[in-house]
Amino acid sequence: MKAVVLVGGEGTRLRPLTSTTPKPLLPIAGRPLVERQLLWLAAHGVDEVVLSLGYLPDAFVEHFPGNEFASMRLIYAVEQEPLGTAGAIRFAAEQAGIEERFVVCNGDVLTTLDLRAFVEFHLEHGAAATIHLSQVVDPSALGVVPTYDDGEVKAFIEKPAAGTAPSNWINAGTYVLEPEVLERIPPALATSIERETFPRLLEDRGRLYALATDDYWLDVGTPEKYLEAHADVLGGRIGSSPVPDAREEAPGVWVQGDVDLASEASLEAPVLIGEGVAVAAGARVAGSAIGAGSSVGPDAVVDRSVLLTGVRLARGALVRESILGIDAVVEEGASVLDFSIVGAGANVPAGTTLTGDRVPVAAPAG
Ligand code: GTP
Repeated sequence: MKAVVLVGGEGTRLRPLTSTTPKPLLPIAGRPLVERQLLWLAAHGVDEVVLSLGYLPDAFVEHFPGNEFASMRLIYAVEQEPLGTAGAIRFAAEQAGIEERFVVCNGDVLTTLDLRAFVEFHLEHGAAATIHLSQVVDPSALGVVPTYDDGEVKAFIEKPAAGTAPSNWINAGTYVLEPEVLERIPPALATSIERETFPRLLEDRGRLYALATDDYWLDVGTPEKYLEAHADVLGGRIGSSPVPDAREEAPGVWVQGDVDLASEASLEAPVLIGEGVAVAAGARVAGSAIGAGSSVGPDAVVDRSVLLTGVRLARGALVRESILGIDAVVEEGASVLDFSIVGAGANVPAGTTLTGDRVPVAAPAG
């Protein structure tokens, strides 16, 4: 079976991390989000994936040399202008010559949905399109999709005002489509599948179904969700080991390769310590992922946070519920708190405190 994976968005809510790295290539506990998604597709029998690209496309081509991953063939469909979710699906399908039933997924979704059972449901109902639904506590920023008992879609309610949604089952961003749906999407025009194509299909009584499941599901779109994804992967909610080459040195303490951990440092599970990481005496790392080659100085604290690769924390630095980009530096005694993001190579000066701030990527030297 073929799949189109939508990975062309700019990921604006995760800037400045996404200023240099497209969202699907950001690591989730040491493994890029898109790799986790491709492995999930491969495990459910997908053998060819079209990566629907627009923003920073070369990063994907470089990441997957040989146009192959997990024994699946990879095809790149690069848009010159953003085509929105529907336009991108049509363009990708045309580029790859897809003429049969296929799967589509948003490239920022982490899920354990049983894709085979999902396709089976689609076939049993003779649907033109089937949408995966997931239940959330607050659907007010999402697309709510009420259905009849047999799964036929009743309506689309985009971003319902708080307290008005008829249910909290939302469009979870994985679809099975028959090729006839492609004909409903105008070529070379930016259109949205969730806001335009599906509602039109519903109006035309076009056999639109949805399957609600309670599988693990997370849309990794915001700093809060990015940190939540780490907590879930490190906490074993998706698989037993966060990343294949990690060894569990104590319950929930995962380590990759050679590391330099002071015996007077405290590691509180779940944590992932990447290859070449140094953690100095008196430092504390709790519920966090520390990327390869990073160093955590004496008495520094990293709490429920993510450090990408090559990050340096000086003595007494505090990082809590925040994300530090590649080669970022937090100087002595500085604090980075409350969903702050520090861009690649940026410097947080000694003694300063960031609270929910975004520090741009460092300008290139010279
Ligand atoms: P934000 O800018 O933070 O909203 O993130 P985003 O760019 O990822 O947008 P959004 O979360 O709404 O997109 C859902 C999925 O569709 C993501 O996997 C995007 O990469 C993808 N996507 C959004 N717009 C486009 C587009 O115009 N072309 C392609 N190829 N993919 C898109």
